[in-house]
Amino acid sequence: MFERVKAAPTDPILGLTEAFKDDPRTDKINLGVGIYKDENGQTPILRTVKQAEQRLLDHEQSKSYLRIEGLASYAHEVQKLLFGADDAIVTGHRAATAQTPGGTGALRTIAEFAFRHIGIRTIWVSDPTWANHISVFRAAGLEVKTYRYYDAQTRRLDFPGMLESLSQVSEGDMVLLHGCCHNPTGIDPTTAQWQTLNELALKQNWLPFFDFAYQGFGHGIDEDAVGLRIFAQSHQEMLIASSFSKNFGLYNERVGAATIVAHDHNVATVAFSQVKAVIRANYSNPPSHGAAIVTTILEDSQLAAQWHVEVAQMRERIQTMRALFVKKLQENGATTDFSFIEGQNGMFSFSGLNKTQVERLRDEFGVYIVGSGRINVAGMTEHNIDALCKAIVHVL
Ligand code: LMR
Repeated sequence: MFERVKAAPTDPILGLTEAFKDDPRTDKINLGVGIYKDENGQTPILRTVKQAEQRLLDHEQSKSYLRIEGLASYAHEVQKLLFGADDAIVTGHRAATAQTPGGTGALRTIAEFAFRHIGIRTIWVSDPTWANHISVFRAAGLEVKTYRYYDAQTRRLDFPGMLESLSQVSEGDMVLLHGCCHNPTGIDPTTAQWQTLNELALKQNWLPFFDFAYQGFGHGIDEDAVGLRIFAQSHQEMLIASSFSKNFGLYNERVGAATIVAHDHNVATVAFSQVKAVIRANYSNPPSHGAAIVTTILEDSQLAAQWHVEVAQMRERIQTMRALFVKKLQENGATTDFSFIEGQNGMFSFSGLNKTQVERLRDEFGVYIVGSGRINVAGMTEHNIDALCKAIVHVL
């Protein structure tokens, strides 16, 4: 029977990592998958994570199953980061959070919950968006439509286009918004634009769904939550998929969260029972270790303060690399103005490089970036940036 199966296409992001690993060139550069690297090109384990792991090693008593929704203490810490510790959603218990295997686990859980239990049939995603969004939502049964987002001419947010597309969203559809550090463009709405989007959502009565995977990588932990919190202030209901892969560097521990917000605690509790049913039929209950690390850090004021410093260091290194990248491209003779890259947020930059240029970078120079032209700025170092810029200028 298996001979009837057709080969799946290679994943546009993770497939690139496989190709990179198989490439024998020693001077190859991987700017594909969204992983932070330090100035030495390493993906370090955060110091706070190591300390938390030591505590877990010393004190953990059991490896018994967690509850379907995971650790209650983790859920509480997640909500404090999303909404702010004193927000009425947190104090009034209007939100319910499940610990999930990564942000992807949260996206899938929420998508299935929305399809099966609230009757959502259509989700709108930005054009472009993270390629896996489309696969995850289709797998959950949803029809995926796109709204305009990126203006290739100006290389900025096409806000009028975005509003025009979103004005066509039907009541009861779901709209996915990237909370910060938009993947793949690195371009986020301003505070005023978030307010306009919020008003549009209220007027048209669509269900906002935030993907929030890069908190702290744009401007700061609270600053990056501004759009989400604007929506949370005035919406009775919303959904959030969040992740600690990037801001805790816990990529392979798969630490995410699916959060639903309802207009009161009772409604949230009943709705959440169906989120739990989705989880039980999917992966049963979440892995413990990564969430235990996050909880250990966030519950300890000293460790939490150190973690804020570590996130700031990662963010600032990426910002430094953005500026250096623009400078080096110019020094190497680029005639295109790349200064827009400095205004983008988070790990990614939408370079404007086309498919042929991306292929030439890989084949001729061993530089791996995503086919859409997305570059992971967090993979640049002072060591590789000269070679990288020379290669880019060459293919331009
Ligand atoms: C990315 O966009 O590179 C990351 O979110 C990793 C992934 O799973 O694609």
